[in-house]
Amino acid sequence: MRKICVIGVGYVGLVTGTCFADLGNQVVCLDIAEDKIEKLKRGEMPIYEPGLEELVARNVTAQRLHFTTKYQEAVPNADFIFIAVGTPSGVDGEADLKYVRMAAESIAETLTHYAIIIDKSTVPVGTGDSVAEILIERGKKPGVDFDVVSNPEFLREGSAVYDFMQPDRVVLGATNPDAADKVAQLYLPLRCPIMITDLRTAEMIKYASNAFLATRISFINEIATICEKLGADIKEVAAGMGMDKRIGRAFLDAGVGFGGSCFPKATRLFLS
Ligand SMILES: NC(=O)c1ccc[n+]([C@@H]2O[C@H](COP(=O)([O-])OP(=O)(O)OC[C@H]3O[C@@H](n4cnc5c(N)ncnc54)[C@H](O)[C@@H]3O)[C@@H](O)[C@H]2O)c1
Repeated sequence: MRKICVIGVGYVGLVTGTCFADLGNQVVCLDIAEDKIEKLKRGEMPIYEPGLEELVARNVTAQRLHFTTKYQEAVPNADFIFIAVGTPSGVDGEADLKYVRMAAESIAETLTHYAIIIDKSTVPVGTGDSVAEILIERGKKPGVDFDVVSNPEFLREGSAVYDFMQPDRVVLGATNPDAADKVAQLYLPLRCPIMITDLRTAEMIKYASNAFLATRISFINEIATICEKLGADIKEVAAGMGMDKRIGRAFLDAGVGFGGSCFPKATRLFLS
């Protein structure tokens, strides 16, 4: 049984931790928000996601899923440490990495044996190297005490459990390919394509994917405006375009635009 710690029990952290527990791993989910952890311990869910409440209950009962606020309890026992803290947009729209840095510092202070640190938060290219630097500055040796792997998350709110359990692909980027291979083992039960790259390439795949999807939404909205002026039907235009296999139908629904936690950060990066 593999021992996993997930840091940050938000949307991504709770789904990740619960799904890994359901795959038979021993998981501790850690958050600094004490009220959130207390509620989870009482069986109250901080978010609504179809199927998640039942999955949490099942794995808590099976004693594969635990919740804590203490790094000392979670980190020393873990072989895999997922960072899934928030990376909100900062003052200029870029990702604010203060929570990722805080998590890396706390890991460095409590790490007692080799562990793989896996970044699941959506972060700009180069963040994996910065996480490694934080550990090195605190006396930890890469390849001996830790390795860093980037494992970007592509799940959608509303179908997060399904997306975790049936992903189109899992992307793993690492400086040390052995570390990426070990993380790949965690995903083997899902029988999905697993792509292993270097650290920065994995980080870029996430940002480029978000920017591409945001571009499709912006594009179809522009086409909708032109349709309105010219008397064409945008729904049929999108349907007709989407039947072309080179284009596809997804993300061609005209609407109010895009938002959420990921698309704005990605587009901002490519504009800068
Ligand atoms: N929500 C989505 O649909 C989605 C999808 C893909 C990727 N992402 C990315 O995943 C990351 C997490 O997103 P989310 O929606 O789960 O965030 P969230 O804001 O819901 O949760 C983040 C959690 O991290 C905790 N936290 C902050 N600092 C901490 C620390 N030092 N130690 C422990 N816990 C700490 C917070 O208390 C909070 O509970 C972000 O980078 C986001 O962009 C989100």
